[in-house]
Amino acid sequence: MKIGVYPGSFDPITLGHLDIIIRASKLVDHLVIGVLTNISKKTIFTVEERVRFLNWVIKENNLESKVKVESFNGLLVDFAKAQNASFIVRGLRAVTDFDYELQLAQTNHKLVPEIDTIFFTTRLEYSYLSSSTVREIASFGGDIKQFVPECIVQSVYDKYKAIGSV
Ligand code: PNS
Repeated sequence: MKIGVYPGSFDPITLGHLDIIIRASKLVDHLVIGVLTNISKKTIFTVEERVRFLNWVIKENNLESKVKVESFNGLLVDFAKAQNASFIVRGLRAVTDFDYELQLAQTNHKLVPEIDTIFFTTRLEYSYLSSSTVREIASFGGDIKQFVPECIVQSVYDKYKAIGSV
């Protein structure tokens, strides 16, 4: 059985992430989305919120039989091993992602040679898109509907209202 792990911060999930989830889920028998909890960079959304948003999106896209969402602490390769994964999935948007992604993939391969990283090039329509762009727009009350799955839009706005930013 081919199991892939798609790790990230997902702060919050974007349509670019969803596109990769859909495409990667066709390549493996099971895809485990790994939501990192021990992030040195501070996230706006709690790990529970990020996992909840992903679960809503998985359900809305009828991917429940193929895709599950888990949070993880520590090293990605340890999480991938614990999930019996053969692949780590990452998205590449532009050349600016390349250095970091190459370093990550090569380091992970050095740590656990049995697990390889597969890159999906982001679809052109999402190549500009990032969670940080979404956060910035939402923090000023801008329109995020074309950037994130519809089922999370209101919750993103609610978060910014709750922290007093809009
Ligand atoms: O969505 P992101 O923030 O670009 O995802 C980064 C992520 C979660 C893939 C990366 O930070 C990660 O794997 N962190 C876990 C710690 C680890 O294993 N680091 C790689 C070896 S240095």
